[in-house]
Amino acid sequence: MRRVVLASGKGGVGRTTLTANLALALAKEGRTTVLVDACFSSPNLGLLFKLEKAPYTLNDVLRGEIPPPDAVYEGPHGLRIVPSSISGDMRGVDLARLPSVLESLGEKAEFMLIDAPGGLRRETVAVLKTGQEVLLLTSPEVTSLSDTMRTKVLLEFLGLHPRGVVLNRVRGKDYEFPPAEIKRLLDLPILGKVPEDLSVRKAWRRGEPLLELYPRSPASRAITELTEKLRKGLS
Ligand SMILES: Nc1ncnc2c1ncn2[C@@H]1O[C@H](COP(=O)(O)OP(=O)(O)OP(=O)(O)O)[C@@H](O)[C@H]1O
Ligand SMILES: [Mg+2]
Repeated sequence: MRRVVLASGKGGVGRTTLTANLALALAKEGRTTVLVDACFSSPNLGLLFKLEKAPYTLNDVLRGEIPPPDAVYEGPHGLRIVPSSISGDMRGVDLARLPSVLESLGEKAEFMLIDAPGGLRRETVAVLKTGQEVLLLTSPEVTSLSDTMRTKVLLEFLGLHPRGVVLNRVRGKDYEFPPAEIKRLLDLPILGKVPEDLSVRKAWRRGEPLLELYPRSPASRAITELTEKLRKGLS
C-alpha cells in the first residue's frame, strides 16, 4: 500500500479538491483506494461525498470508541472514504493512534490518499509524519509559496523528502511565479499544473467531486494527467 499525503502550507489552495479527485481517479482506474480526511481543522472532504452526516468518523476511531472499519464509507467507483468529524471536535482524539489506525484502514488497499491539515500545528506534524510519499501543493502566488517553503522545512525536519510540487489555481498571469522559478525556489520537480477553473467551484456547490460532474473540464484533465504520473511513479 502506498500512502500519499497531500500537504500545503497555506489553507484554501485546493488540497481537499485535489486529494479527493486524485483518489477518485485512481478508484476509477480500478485501483483499490482509501481516501482519508485527516484535515481536522478544516474537515470538508465529506461534503464532496454527501458524508457530512456520517455517524462515525476518523475522530471516533482515534478516540478508541469504534474499530477502524466502522468509519469507512463506500464512494463512487468503490472508493473507500474515511471522513473526519464535520464539527471539528478534537476532544479525546489521540493522535498517537494515527499510524496504526491508518495501517489498519489501508489493509489490502493499493493506495491511501490523505488530506493533511495546513500550517505548522500539532496535528499537521502528526499527519505529515505518517506520509510515505508527500506531494506539496501550492498556488503560484507569493504568500502560498512562502508558506509552502516553511512546510518543506518542516517535512525535512521530519526526515521526509517531498516527491514534488503540484501547482493549483494557475491562471497564467504575470503576477504569478512561473513554474521554472517555483521549481528552483523549492528545489523540487513540478509534478502537475491545475488551472483556475470555475468547474471546481461549481462542483463544490453541488456537493459532488469535479471528476464525476465535469470530467472533461480543464482542471479534471490536469488531475487525470497527474494521476497517471503518480501511478507510474509510485507503482
Ligand atoms: N483549480 C481551481 N479552480 C478554481 N477554484 C478552485 C480550484 N481549486 C480549488 N478551488 C476553490 O478554492 C476553494 C478551496 O478549495 P479546497 O477546499 O479544496 O482547499 P483546501 O486547501 O483544502 O482548503 P482548507 O485550507 O480550507 O482545507 C474552494 O472554493 C474551491 O472551489
Ligand atoms: Mg481542505
